Amino acid sequence: MIDFKNVNFSYEKGEPVLKDINFSIEEGESVGLIGCNGAGKSTLMKVLLGLLPHEGEIKVGDLTVSKETLPAVRRKIGFVFQDSDNQMFMPTVYEDMMFGPTNYGHTKEEAAARVDEVLEELNLTYLKNKYNHKISGGEKRMAAIATILTMRPKVILMDEPSIALDPENRRRVINAINKLSTTKLIASHDLDMILDTCSRVILMHDGEIIADGPVEKILTDRELLETNHMELPFKLQGLQIKNN
Ligand SMILES: Nc1ncnc2c1ncn2[C@@H]1O[C@H](COP(=O)(O)OP(=O)(O)O)[C@@H](O)[C@H]1O
Ligand SMILES: [Mg+2]
Repeated sequence: MIDFKNVNFSYEKGEPVLKDINFSIEEGESVGLIGCNGAGKSTLMKVLLGLLPHEGEIKVGDLTVSKETLPAVRRKIGFVFQDSDNQMFMPTVYEDMMFGPTNYGHTKEEAAARVDEVLEELNLTYLKNKYNHKISGGEKRMAAIATILTMRPKVILMDEPSIALDPENRRRVINAINKLSTTKLIASHDLDMILDTCSRVILMHDGEIIADGPVEKILTDRELLETNHMELPFKLQGLQIKNN
């Protein structure tokens, strides 16, 4: 579903931010992209979305990401921004959710049916007619996820979906992620969230992929995580102490 072959990128000449990135993600996989601040996670997502130019080859399904295929690529990928304010631009949640499907040619009735279905699925019907500027940060994050889902994307990218959320809203976002059966790539340094939502982890550091494997292998590897400026998930710290 997603395929990176020898992908390189730099914002400024001579300062590579993505260095020879290679990986594939199969349809239906849920993959965590982890790494400390500055590792290159957000850049990798922007390159995958075609928002930044790249060297090498990126494929989404059978589409090669390029300027020419951008509209088609965008139809396949739903992207939840780190800052939900950048995503919600209509007055109400309902209008934001209607925008995508109607923009892609669905009738108002079809779009409205999708909106209701997604809101119900995520237990968010109460948000439908709320004003975006009057809802909380947690609700906004949930509304942003709901908005993406009305487009029925093949792939969902999320950049730090749990950042700045209180525990209750963080849990709601985790539950929402786990309900989605699409292919998912989730960038975060919240390793407990990754543990709860992903089966595979790609670890980046300084623009390179350092490790790629099952979540239970990588997130239990204290030495690997600490070498790359991260810590074991809280959930596993207790177990680790007992073992030492
Ligand atoms: N717009 C930009 N211009 C120049 N450098 C950038 C820009 N955005 C990010 N960088 C640099 O690219 C590197 C990777 O950043 P980023 O992809 O945001 O990492 P992460 O999401 O893992 O924290 C960092 O060194 C960062 O300073
Ligand atoms: Mg980032």
